[in-house]
Amino acid sequence: MAATPKSRQISEEDKKRQKECTAQIRSANEAYTKANGRAPRAFVLTLGCQQNEADSEKLCGMAEACGYEITDKAEEAALIMVNTCAIREHAEQRALSLVGQYKHLKARNPELVIGICGCMVVQEHRIEDIKRRYPYVDLLFGTSSLHRFPELLLEKLTHKKRVLRGDETEYAVAEDIPIRRESTYRAWVSVMYGCNNFCSYCIVPYVRGRERSREKEAVIREVRELVEAGYRDITLLGQNVNSYGKDGDRSDDFADLLAELDTIEGDYWLHFMTSHPKDATRKLIDVMANARHVARHFHLPMQSGSDRILQAMNRRYTFEKYRDILTYIRKKMPDITVTSDLIVGFPGETEEDFAATLDALRQCRFDMIYSFIYSPRKGTPAAEMAEQIPQAVKSERYERLLAVQNEIALAVGEALIGKTVRVLCDGISKNNEKVYSGRTEGGKIVFFDTTPENTGKFLSVFVERAEPFALYGTVVKD
Ligand code: 5AD
Ligand code: SF4
Repeated sequence: MAATPKSRQISEEDKKRQKECTAQIRSANEAYTKANGRAPRAFVLTLGCQQNEADSEKLCGMAEACGYEITDKAEEAALIMVNTCAIREHAEQRALSLVGQYKHLKARNPELVIGICGCMVVQEHRIEDIKRRYPYVDLLFGTSSLHRFPELLLEKLTHKKRVLRGDETEYAVAEDIPIRRESTYRAWVSVMYGCNNFCSYCIVPYVRGRERSREKEAVIREVRELVEAGYRDITLLGQNVNSYGKDGDRSDDFADLLAELDTIEGDYWLHFMTSHPKDATRKLIDVMANARHVARHFHLPMQSGSDRILQAMNRRYTFEKYRDILTYIRKKMPDITVTSDLIVGFPGETEEDFAATLDALRQCRFDMIYSFIYSPRKGTPAAEMAEQIPQAVKSERYERLLAVQNEIALAVGEALIGKTVRVLCDGISKNNEKVYSGRTEGGKIVFFDTTPENTGKFLSVFVERAEPFALYGTVVKD
């Protein structure tokens, strides 16, 4: 098989340096543990998408290798890392406000190291912000430097000076980073990083660099190990998974990767996200339809139902093209769950454009949507467009969109009443300690009653009741 061009992988020296830095921090932390009777704690806070959650599992893995014990309490930590998101203004404001709350912890414990990383701090104006307005932040690095966490942390610990490296943008693929997985049965596996699409509203290409794929063998090895370790739900991640392999000199694409992964024996679901409609091929859909393990779930972001807006968004498909793919998906897999992303209030969106989105929603009948109010992102073309939509109009359209979708989701859920669905049990529900929750293959939330040892197991649940966002039922024997 053709290899990823070497420039896309981090260098061997870089890997070796990280190992050496990890060992140095570890020996200092072991001395601390001996003297204090307990290991220093590290707290990692994650904002944003699944890619960030996957990155945080690597941050935790590296911190653990450095001799920290991971905690979920910021107050007891010797090291706090905030892994930020830049997708919408709200996510950035949340990150800044959380970092603001850690100021008093630093005042109490001057030895505390506060770090900030991820998508937000790749942007120049945010780096400046942190430099000036958050002097107690000791460590800052962007998404391209994640694997250099041990080296940058050691620099901070040794020289006691702030280490601010948001301007490092040499994007590459870093293998062999230790991972501390949150769950023992659901796992993320990145297959590619970055994005080349430049949708006019989106900050991602500016903060996560150009597309680069992992070696197929590395992905297969990771998935196989997870299945062997008993993982039941594995999600392949990439900003645009359909571009997998296009950056190297390989001949195989994402559909080939999926088909090969599907040959791994075991009882598990294989999910993937996200697919760009312009690249969702019939070949991929055919592979899915014939697969044994690929979950019957397709997340296909539509963003808008108006061709005029889709063009202004630089999405490179029309609603008709989108609907054709959806029709093919449902023809091949009639029982599939389809979810989508939609943005309301994109610059220039007229009442007519919005009506086209509502109409598209009614035609597509998604099981669930993630809907967003357009948020201008500095440096993206859409932020500079005239005709920004007033907040009140955006909010009003957002409510109307939700009302239409709620009706659809309820009807889709009610159609499942009286049927038995397979559910991966997540244990006691976070919001209601009297019930258990789980998710179907399509990601639908189901509530039921069971016992703790069934957490992480597949169960059959007879559906008795539906709400727009959840199903309720009783566990039945297989
Ligand atoms: N404003 C609002 N929503 C956005 N998304 C991406 N950028 C923006 C933005 N500037 C949404 C898209 C994407 C999802 C992950 O977030 O719908 O698919
Ligand atoms: Fe994920 Fe996008 Fe946020 Fe980056 S900006 S963490 S890619 S949601």
